[in-house]
Amino acid sequence: MATLDNTSLHLPVENPEAGDFLPLLGTDYVELYVGNAKQAAHYYMSAWGFQPLAYAGLETGLKDRVSYVLEQDKIRLVLTSPLKPGGEINKHINSHGDGVKAIALWVDDAEKSYKETTSRGAESYFEPEIFEDEHGEVKLSGIHTYGETVHIFVERNKYDGPFLPGYKKWNPFYRAEDTGLRYIDHMVGNVGWNEMNKWCEFYAKVMGFAQLVSFDDKDISTEYTALMSKVMSNGNGRIKFPINEPAEGRKKSQIEEYIEFYNGAGVQHMALATNNIIETVTKLRDRGIEFLTVPATYYEEVLDRVGEIDEDLAPLRDLGILVDRDDEGYLLQIFTKPILDRPTMFIEIIQRKGAKSFGKGNFKALFESIEREQASRGTL
Ligand code: FE2
Repeated sequence: MATLDNTSLHLPVENPEAGDFLPLLGTDYVELYVGNAKQAAHYYMSAWGFQPLAYAGLETGLKDRVSYVLEQDKIRLVLTSPLKPGGEINKHINSHGDGVKAIALWVDDAEKSYKETTSRGAESYFEPEIFEDEHGEVKLSGIHTYGETVHIFVERNKYDGPFLPGYKKWNPFYRAEDTGLRYIDHMVGNVGWNEMNKWCEFYAKVMGFAQLVSFDDKDISTEYTALMSKVMSNGNGRIKFPINEPAEGRKKSQIEEYIEFYNGAGVQHMALATNNIIETVTKLRDRGIEFLTVPATYYEEVLDRVGEIDEDLAPLRDLGILVDRDDEGYLLQIFTKPILDRPTMFIEIIQRKGAKSFGKGNFKALFESIEREQASRGTL
């Protein structure tokens, strides 16, 4: 498989141990448990431009579940549905709706990753195990993180099959044009009241991550909603996990709304990187993806705030793309509305032009947009 770019050189410095005991090569895949994987796969292909990669189900000898694997450049999604009543996947879907079960991390040594993390307090999901087929072998192990979410360590240097042992190449006639999505920039977790520090400490202590930047609730509150957020990063900066918790506001925090509908902590959003956000978002919009909008006044003030940018303002305004700047450059970003029936998970599209931060300057405009959506759902 292709090597991942080191897309962020913003190395965390607050944890001198960062990455030493748990070297991570990148995100291997993200697995969602969904009610209907076949139709979800079609959505991610036709709307998001993912390409079919691999399949496992009744035809490959599985009896109780089915998985479709999709890819776009370095992003791999696995969509898994149960085929029978009962069992862990049904329970997950019943509790959470469709959502992210696993953030799988690509490692050189799945056994060492398991030992280093469980010896530092991680709860085991499953012990190191070798899976084989005619393409070679893969060693996997897993640990629990917030909510019912897990991390799976994937050691695949002795494997040349399409995805993992047990999966066959999936080669349907239908192929959608890609939308220019390249890699996972960050994955954000929402956790309950006063749990942010606990989970940041988990990533620091158990996985050797360090904190990148922090916001306090004054930075990211509006009249109504508020949240607290910290960003944890591994040593080489390839894996970044912001963690949010609700904060007191006049009305219900968007994080509370998530926790209520997801029935606990879980993945709030995936941020997918592109090299041309105008092209990517135009394609996504034309294929039916709905994005949060900001008032036109945002664009009257934005250049005063962020200074000169390469892009024309008109297409950014037409598409609702946001701009923010930090010491190292600027970034362009946009957020979808929830992509599921429950107001839980959404997707961010991000193009970095030097900036290593996460769009703090946009939070206020964005939260006001989220509040308009919450109000329309009666959950503000
Ligand atoms: Fe984000």
